[in-house]
Amino acid sequence: MPAYAVIGGQWGDEGKGKMVDFLAQYSQYVVRYSGGNNAGHTVINDKGKFAFHLVPTGIFWPNVTCVIGNGVVIDPNVLIEEIDGLAKVGIETGRMAVSDRAHLIMPYHVTLDRLEEEARGSTAIGTTGRGVGPAYVDKVARSGIRVGDLLEVDNKSRFLPRLENVIKLKNSLITKVYGDNPIDLQKVYQQCREWADKLRPFITPTEKLLLEALSNNKSIILEGAQGTMLDIDHGTFPYVTSSSPTIGGAITGLGIPPQSIKGILGVFKAYSTRVGSGPLVTELLDNVGEAIRERAQEYGATTGRPRRCGWFDAVAARYSAQLNGYTSIVLTRLDILDSFSTIKICTGYRLGDGTITTDFPTSASTLESCEPIYEELSGWDGSTASTTKVNDLPSGAKLYVDRIQELIGVPVDIISTGPRREETIVIRSTVGDI
Ligand code: GDP
Ligand code: IMO
Ligand code: MG
Repeated sequence: MPAYAVIGGQWGDEGKGKMVDFLAQYSQYVVRYSGGNNAGHTVINDKGKFAFHLVPTGIFWPNVTCVIGNGVVIDPNVLIEEIDGLAKVGIETGRMAVSDRAHLIMPYHVTLDRLEEEARGSTAIGTTGRGVGPAYVDKVARSGIRVGDLLEVDNKSRFLPRLENVIKLKNSLITKVYGDNPIDLQKVYQQCREWADKLRPFITPTEKLLLEALSNNKSIILEGAQGTMLDIDHGTFPYVTSSSPTIGGAITGLGIPPQSIKGILGVFKAYSTRVGSGPLVTELLDNVGEAIRERAQEYGATTGRPRRCGWFDAVAARYSAQLNGYTSIVLTRLDILDSFSTIKICTGYRLGDGTITTDFPTSASTLESCEPIYEELSGWDGSTASTTKVNDLPSGAKLYVDRIQELIGVPVDIISTGPRREETIVIRSTVGDI
């Protein structure tokens, strides 16, 4: 009963969408377990270029069932827009299931995300502004409204009084603390009714579906969102997202047993990027960083913001591997480094007091004061772009991959050499028979 987790190893945007679209051909299920429409997963295939925020990227494979698990927070407007968009390009989404236990992102969450960020001023997190954090707050505060509650939307003695209660409290916050305009209860209620009409066919207890699939020996890909360094517990707090993109989140976010997970694939870019605020020890604020951004077109798939760029950080990568127990590394965007004469890898941090560490520090302010210690490798002649065989890689590129593998202590089993599905090198079997 194999499940394979595909986890963002860094700060998100590692190329999870491309890899899950590729790996899904060897699988029967693709499931999202955490985050919401803060995610932006790019897929480029024969149908075109897509940026998915909620729909699992396995949707292009007609025999793949796509599931949104209980750990995800769902803005129904975004989900419905994605489903309608797929229908327009002829992709049938009847094979989708949405957990009745997943929480809803409501309009007041989006409003509060904006107001809280404005109030943080210079310490703003740089959220995606999609209401994800406030929705998780309500889940933990036990005042959230779940997808399954939409099934009772017409039960006026249950749904409406609860919504009224929540909106009353949110409006006190919105108007009295932040001085903004209140949310209209009737408008939100009407919207909930429309969401229920549209989403009803997809809503189901998905853990049951997944357990059945596992017992029938189906292969399931767990599509991570965000990245390990954005994890609410293990990331660079407070500059993190409000969920658990790490392996633990996959288990609570789906309700599957840990022993069903046969492989844990950590997806890493061949360099580093980060969107939003927070420490990035290897950030390059010079023309090298700019060159990476422009060559790679490092602009957010959700918000369009420029991504901050830097060299590969092996200190953070090793920490990420320890937390998740990766069985394989998937290295993406190797082709972006084709044009550099020298390439650096960060192998240690020099702390503010001059001491050197290879342990990833806990505090964001300690991280801000760290200087990267680099190992310098020479670049390579020739191109890795679109290469599909490991033996066709330039020898310098192979040395770079070997060094990353050695520093993380986990084999690089897949290399991505371009954004398209077929621009992939499989070195060792990771999912199913590949
Ligand atoms: P995700 O959030 O992890 O799914 O990643 P994003 O889709 O936000 O960002 C990854 C970007 O890199 C997208 O524009 C992909 O099309 C692109 N991409 C993925 N793999 C490769 C690769 O190997 N080479 C290049 N050049 N682009 C890639
Ligand atoms: P994918 O799945 C990159 C970042 C935001 C911000 C912080 C908190 O595409 O890799 P939030 O809106 O979650 O409260 O914002 O987390 N962030 C991401 N960065 N990729 C993502 O997702 C991200 N999702 C959230 O930029 O710094
Ligand atoms: Mg992304």
